[in-house]
Amino acid sequence: MLLAIPDVLTPSEAAGLRETIAAAEWVDGNATSGAGAASVKRNRQLPEDGAITLAAQKVVSTALMSNAAFLSAALPHTVFPPLFNRYGGGENFGLHVDNAIRFHSGSGARIRTDLSATLFLTDPEDYEGGELEIEGGFGTLSYRLPAGHMLLYPSTSLHRVTPVTRGERISCFFWLQSLVADAAAREMLYDLDQSVQALSAERGKADTEVLRLTALYHNLIRRWAQV
Ligand code: NI
Repeated sequence: MLLAIPDVLTPSEAAGLRETIAAAEWVDGNATSGAGAASVKRNRQLPEDGAITLAAQKVVSTALMSNAAFLSAALPHTVFPPLFNRYGGGENFGLHVDNAIRFHSGSGARIRTDLSATLFLTDPEDYEGGELEIEGGFGTLSYRLPAGHMLLYPSTSLHRVTPVTRGERISCFFWLQSLVADAAAREMLYDLDQSVQALSAERGKADTEVLRLTALYHNLIRRWAQV
């Protein structure tokens, strides 16, 4: 599942969050990286447990939990507390795969990373480079989304962030464990849910076929979800 989700934050919410965190103290991004990725990572991050980080996490978490597209696509079991990174002056993150398991010392959460996400906080016209490139079955796909938009992509993929050659790119990123571990099953559930939503709007929720498809959706979740 590779999905660009628009308007997770409004442009003004994204700008407000970016300005707040830009003024905080940043550290070398390798402080929070998995051992495998550390050698190719050149960026800065907000410390995981700073007061500004915690407040920013709250803003993002609240937005995520009210975003229907995110909930439908990710079927989140546990979302790792969102982190924030910053690239400028040629900083980049070379090709890597995210660690399979992430442990968060603050909350004690330990998750299997099924999906990775980048919530862009800087508009693409304000920097150059900084493409999020993801390798997959359809080749390499490249993303620079508007501020407030988010890319959800498989944690199993090899990906990189190309050097930022002008301006600065500030983003929020996180991983999550899904209720449905199998990516193909999760994708089918997303497709089914999208159709159920569209048909409900057209025919009403009480329509017999809509009800049957809704039941099918929930019964597949019962079959596949690990809670
Ligand atoms: Ni990564």
